[in-house]
Order: sequence, then structure tokens, then C-alpha cells
Amino acid sequence: MRKKLVAGNWKMHGNLAENAALLSALKPALAGIEAVVCVPFPYLAQAQAALAGSSIAWGAQNVSEQAKGAFTGEVSAAMLLDFGCRYVIVGHSERRSLYGETDELVASKYMAAQAAGLTPILCVGESLAERESGVTEAVVARQLDAVIKAAGVASLARAVVAYEPVWAIGTGKTATPEQAQAVHAFIRGKIAALDAGVADGLVIQYGGSVKAANAAELMAQPDIDGGLIGGASLVADEFIAICQAAAK
Ligand code: PGA
Repeated sequence: MRKKLVAGNWKMHGNLAENAALLSALKPALAGIEAVVCVPFPYLAQAQAALAGSSIAWGAQNVSEQAKGAFTGEVSAAMLLDFGCRYVIVGHSERRSLYGETDELVASKYMAAQAAGLTPILCVGESLAERESGVTEAVVARQLDAVIKAAGVASLARAVVAYEPVWAIGTGKTATPEQAQAVHAFIRGKIAALDAGVADGLVIQYGGSVKAANAAELMAQPDIDGGLIGGASLVADEFIAICQAAAK
């Protein structure tokens, strides 16, 4: 049985005081429940100090595809590891759309993360226009294929995939459990055609306006193995309830 995994994506939110309050609320409430918080780079040390020894892992929201060198403003996977990160989000739709990250660049970041021993949370998902023109599966397949081509299907045994329909991110408009399940099943089926064992063990999170109120019905779907949570991960009670719904 796959274990469900919920990860928070704080995006560019927080400060030392707010983070301290949030983390100290999460830690006792989630004791024994595996969860992840992906925090802004400057707060990795804070997350490490607050969460070490707890069941909550921490990670980053982006990573350089380069190992080291003259890449001003970039952060390497080894640096993330230095701060105890276990996870890093790669290919979030905001990175793809606002910062021009291509499928190939995302694949390079995914490989850099794995080479350092981090677990990439690989985000895929279609825009509203793509869904309306019926190419959802083609878009998700293309995004996955770039990674499979570069890193091989076996690499997915050391990764998490997050299906995040772009139209559902931060909009309050969640995919219905049936809509999400259909794409999750498509993703698992596509990978199963290449490697059934990898597909069976792969954690596929759903992301896009997940909140305490809709988490249980999403998590009840057979191919939804947790969530990647944006806005609601900044609210302790919301994030705790989502993690608890997934752990049930
Ligand atoms: P949201 O964001 O939960 O605020 O919709 C999800 C994400 O972008 O990962």
C-alpha cells in the first residue's frame, strides 16, 4: 500500500515570527504523521531547527540544475541537503509560466535533485485553455515524458509527482474528485505501461485549492496519494486537518 503524503508549498510567504508560530503549531499536532513543508530558501535553517526530530520533513520550492559555479542567485541541491532538506518542488506551474522553465529544464532540475539525494516533487498539470481544448492528457504526458526521457522511468521510484491543474491553483476552484482521479489514473497508467512496479509505488499528489473542507473526498480517490497545498498550508488548522484527512 502506498502511504499518503501531504506537502505544504509556502510560496513567497512568511517571516521569522509567522513561521515560528506556524511550525510550533504543526509539530505537536502532526506528531507521528509524515508531512512536508516547502519553505522559502532563507527559512530553511529555521525549519531545520524547528522540525529536526519530528515527523515533518522540510524542503525547498526550486533548485538549480547546476551543481555549482558562477550562477548568481541560484541555489544548488547540495546546499539544500546541507540544511537537511529531503524534498524539493520542481516544475511548479508558477516556475513554468512566470519564469519560463521548460520541460527540459525541469527534467534537469529533477536530475540534479536526485543526484544529491533529494526527492523531487515533480509538478505537472494543464492550463484552463488546454483542458477546454481537450489536451489535458497530452500536456501531462509531455511533461512526464521529458523527465522519463532524461532520467528514466526507474527514477520515479525516488520521486513524488504532483498533479496540479493550473486553473485550480490559488483560484478556490478545485478539480472535482472525479476530474482529479481521472488524470491521476492516466498518469499511473502511463507509467505502468513502462514499469508496473514503479507505477504502483508512486505517490501522486493532487494540488489546487485543497483545503480542510475538500481534502477527505479527494484523498478517498484510489489514485490520489496526498496533496500539494499552497494557501491552506499557511493556516495551521487547515494544514493539520488536511494532513489528518490524508492519514486516515
Ligand atoms: P493552492 O496552491 O493550494 O493555493 O491552490 C497549490 C500549489 O500551487 O501548489
